[in-house]
Amino acid sequence: MSERLYMYPVWLRIWHAINAIMIIILILTGVSMQYSNPDRPFIRFDLAVTWHNVAGVILTICYFIFVIGNITTGNGKFYRIKLKKLINRLTKQAIYYTIGVYKGDKPPYPVNKKRKFNPLQQFAYVFILYLFMPILFITGWALLFPETIWLNFFGFSGILLTALLHSAGGFIVSIFLFVHLYFCTFGKTATSNFRSMVNGYHEGH
Ligand code: HEM
Repeated sequence: MSERLYMYPVWLRIWHAINAIMIIILILTGVSMQYSNPDRPFIRFDLAVTWHNVAGVILTICYFIFVIGNITTGNGKFYRIKLKKLINRLTKQAIYYTIGVYKGDKPPYPVNKKRKFNPLQQFAYVFILYLFMPILFITGWALLFPETIWLNFFGFSGILLTALLHSAGGFIVSIFLFVHLYFCTFGKTATSNFRSMVNGYHEGH
């Protein structure tokens, strides 16, 4: 009989749902603004700008709810990367994802009350949530108020550098989303992790 663990409190699920919807809106409007042909845009340019700005503001507010939630509830401890044997643990998980999972092996780092994420998952979440999301919204707010950006940064245009950093960050988060969705199918069944994020309960292997 597999264990059911309550791992995703309501506040976290609400944050996650709003965050996911906002990121999808930001990716669609961002890609449309960057690549569309002005005569035949994927999303009308002025609409894409408005939606992108509104979603960016909501995402920033949501981000602080995530950080405060992690500090004030026990959820933050799952994001603390332990350096001891980190490379070994990352390699072991990578081998499981590339070989073990197809042989029906048990996961090397199953979820329990003390460990919600496997080492690779933890690394990816910390990397995206604590590095790339701040880069994205800080550069996003700067572009919303371009007068705050240095015009000249070591001989380069500050606005150009900020815009480059913003689109590179957006690209990384978009790639993360695809990888995240794929790895979320590696639960007890292909859909069990998605159910967890709705009802709060993790289904063990
Ligand atoms: C359609 C969009 C998305 C879906 C369907 C989805 C699905 C899921 C699922 C099933 C889980 C639970 C499995 C696990 O703990 O790893 C999860 C957790 C998580 N997702 Fe997503 N996700 C989406 C978008 C995103 C985005 C855009 C981000 C961040 C930029 C994100 C960040 C996270 C984080 C940090 C967790 C762990 C939360 C915690 O337990 O503390 N997700 N997601």
